[in-house]
Amino acid sequence: MKLGVNIDHIAVLREARKINDPDPVHALGIAQRAGSDQITIHLREDRRHINDYDASRIVELSPLPVNMECSIDPQILDIVCSLRPHRATLVPEKRQEVTTEGGLDVISNFEAIAQAVQKLQEYEIDVSLFVDPDFEIIAASADTGADMVELHTGEYANLYAMLYTNLPHTPHAIKELGLSRQELKERLSKALGDLENSAIYAAQAGLFVAAGHGLNYQNVGRIAAMPNIIELNIGQSIIARSVWVGLKAAIKEMKGLIDEACRCD
Ligand code: PXP
Repeated sequence: MKLGVNIDHIAVLREARKINDPDPVHALGIAQRAGSDQITIHLREDRRHINDYDASRIVELSPLPVNMECSIDPQILDIVCSLRPHRATLVPEKRQEVTTEGGLDVISNFEAIAQAVQKLQEYEIDVSLFVDPDFEIIAASADTGADMVELHTGEYANLYAMLYTNLPHTPHAIKELGLSRQELKERLSKALGDLENSAIYAAQAGLFVAAGHGLNYQNVGRIAAMPNIIELNIGQSIIARSVWVGLKAAIKEMKGLIDEACRCD
């Protein structure tokens, strides 16, 4: 199981002061030495964290393959094509969101997404689509010609947080549903089932399967244990943990949990 470490939040900290420190480029060697398999960054349209200068230096200097998350905005796609990272992961983007909120609607936006996939592939960039665990969306994803899907684990992570943590920032969307503990447990088990079945379905459709969003040191095991998932992309929890133990230890710890859960190393 591969681990892609999303380093956007290093740039979030830098942007809080609008200065040059911390520089996400400094994470590249540390991530490699800690056992990360990939660097993931998101070049957002609003450039709220990673900017064009970061992206070009990261692609140029990274000793690990770089997975660039991006929208299908034509200007962003032009930048990604000119940088030629190892992979582009297409994600939906809304200006007001705190983080990517849902998967791509590959059915309603099929033509635009298929064109983006084709354009990126012409530049020899592998393409992944960030999607909800839904058979119809995955079938449409395969039809676009994409190489891979990344299954959105956000709902699973939110339900897990509601059930097993007792902190003020419990996810609003789920909190507002006012579900009982038993109902939350049923939803959690359905979310896991949807992810597992979607991973099987996607693999049978010839897609490589990644997963990510909201994964942390508590909830990662159940996802890492799913046999058809070959890669996890994790950001927030690793960067948060690195405040206490340093980036290298935070990545090693996560990699250890993933290896333990999927019994591979
Ligand atoms: N995968 C995708 C497609 C994402 O958009 C993000 C968030 O940038 C992640 C994974 C990582 O999510 P988190 O920061 O919650 O680990």
